[in-house]
Amino acid sequence: MPIDFVSIDSLARHEGATVTVKGWLYNKRGSKGLWFLILRDGSGLAQCVVSQESADAATWEVAEACTQESALSLTGTVRRDERQVGGYEVQVTSATLVSLAEEYPITPKEHGIEFLMNQRHLWLRSRRQWAIMRVRNRVIYSIHQFFQERGFVQMDAPILTGNAVEGTSTLFAIDYFGRPAYLTQSGQLHGEAMAMAMGKIYTFGPTFRAEKSKTRRHLTEFWMIEPEMAFYDLDMNMEVAEAMLVRLVTDAMEHCAEELAILERDLEPLKRVQGPFPRVTYDEAVEILHSDETARMMDEKIEGLKVEEASLRAELEANRKAYGQAKKHEKRQYDAREIAINQRLADIEEENRYLPKWKESARTFEWGNDFGGSDETVVTWHFDRPVIVHRFPHHFKAFYMKRDPEDDRLALGMDVLAPEGYGEIIGGGERATDLAFLKAQVEAHGLPEEVFSWYFDLRRFGSVPHSGFGMGLERTVSWICGLHHLREAIPFPRLIDRIYP
Ligand code: 4AD
Ligand code: MG
Repeated sequence: MPIDFVSIDSLARHEGATVTVKGWLYNKRGSKGLWFLILRDGSGLAQCVVSQESADAATWEVAEACTQESALSLTGTVRRDERQVGGYEVQVTSATLVSLAEEYPITPKEHGIEFLMNQRHLWLRSRRQWAIMRVRNRVIYSIHQFFQERGFVQMDAPILTGNAVEGTSTLFAIDYFGRPAYLTQSGQLHGEAMAMAMGKIYTFGPTFRAEKSKTRRHLTEFWMIEPEMAFYDLDMNMEVAEAMLVRLVTDAMEHCAEELAILERDLEPLKRVQGPFPRVTYDEAVEILHSDETARMMDEKIEGLKVEEASLRAELEANRKAYGQAKKHEKRQYDAREIAINQRLADIEEENRYLPKWKESARTFEWGNDFGGSDETVVTWHFDRPVIVHRFPHHFKAFYMKRDPEDDRLALGMDVLAPEGYGEIIGGGERATDLAFLKAQVEAHGLPEEVFSWYFDLRRFGSVPHSGFGMGLERTVSWICGLHHLREAIPFPRLIDRIYP
């Protein structure tokens, strides 16, 4: 059977025609002799009007009986109506109930996050989640475009592996026919082998970290994009990372304007994501942490939170009064605002608790330590766009990093930190090329040498300077969408305490 219905996002092309749309009931409202059905089909929302006067009895019955999330097939004439969601309306002449939904658990009222996470399989249907998933899709699409246009070959690294890449402490071990194996933490090592075969490659796959950290920035399963380039040094690597991020953000703003509006994303910080990104060494970042300017910014933030909290509390009260007088169909928007305010108030409370600790941590930060999430955030406050930090003390970095020829204490690593508190979204660097050095590093990191013999071969047969990086997809999507937590940036998040649904 040919496709016998049209998608809601194509209604503009069918103005004046009679078409069928198929989807789920998002919302409905009735007034005498009329039902206004808001239909959701995944491509958009459309108001579909059933009039008792012109519809047959069966159609009217469907309009009356259908419940939230019931599946419907509606046939009618397409009319332009700018006031309606999507800008077009369907005047229904015939309706079929594909299936009647039971009472839907997710209602417009406020739901706690745990409840919504347990309902993730249904929550994905909400307008907000729809918008996030569309942005995620666009980011994925642009990543492929970016690399393909530049001659990179997409290749897949294995998910089951015998190697640790980023250290042994976050490996998920599995029993592989009686032998130990792991879920991969990063496709990098295999990526290096593939780059020596193809020149420039990128992997795009799921990666796993048995992270004990329960933060907004950690998933145990996340998607990583890892380009690896032969004959690229650290600077060239930074160029690629910067150009890619500029492209992703620009494309998202161009192609996902509606989605970002639904998410109420402030576009100003995104518009500033233009090259060149500031580049600071680890040493300079430490100086920033110690600076008087940082201390001053910290005090200013603490003061700013007080002012914001007072104004939100006043708004909350006004909102509650307005809610009491609002008509039923208007209550939803007050509910939504109340949820948003409460969420922000909870954040403020948390920030009030943390900021003094952050201030202390920045002031007393000792050279040689790895940055914590808060230190990264503090560094980003000093810049209006993503910032690249490079040349870290080698002892907290992975075994494969090349040493800085100018200063043997440092590794040629780089991290890209996103603004607005999102922190590290990219980590990478230039790779060590010397066989003897690498062997010594494997030993120094307490890694088993046998499983790396294939990796050492890459330094035996035509070793060349090469670089690459890994970008966390969910961290990037979270930042572009302005999300509070990574869990909304992936369809089914896996967290330390969650593997359902
Ligand atoms: O900095 P990481 O650990 O770097 C690597 O894995 C390198 N082998 C990549 C390479 O050079 N090819 O991780 C890279 C990125 C981080 O910057 C972050 O965006 C993301 O992966 N990431 C996580 N995202 C979500 N949850 C986690 N637990 C993450 N751990 C890392
Ligand atoms: Mg990192």
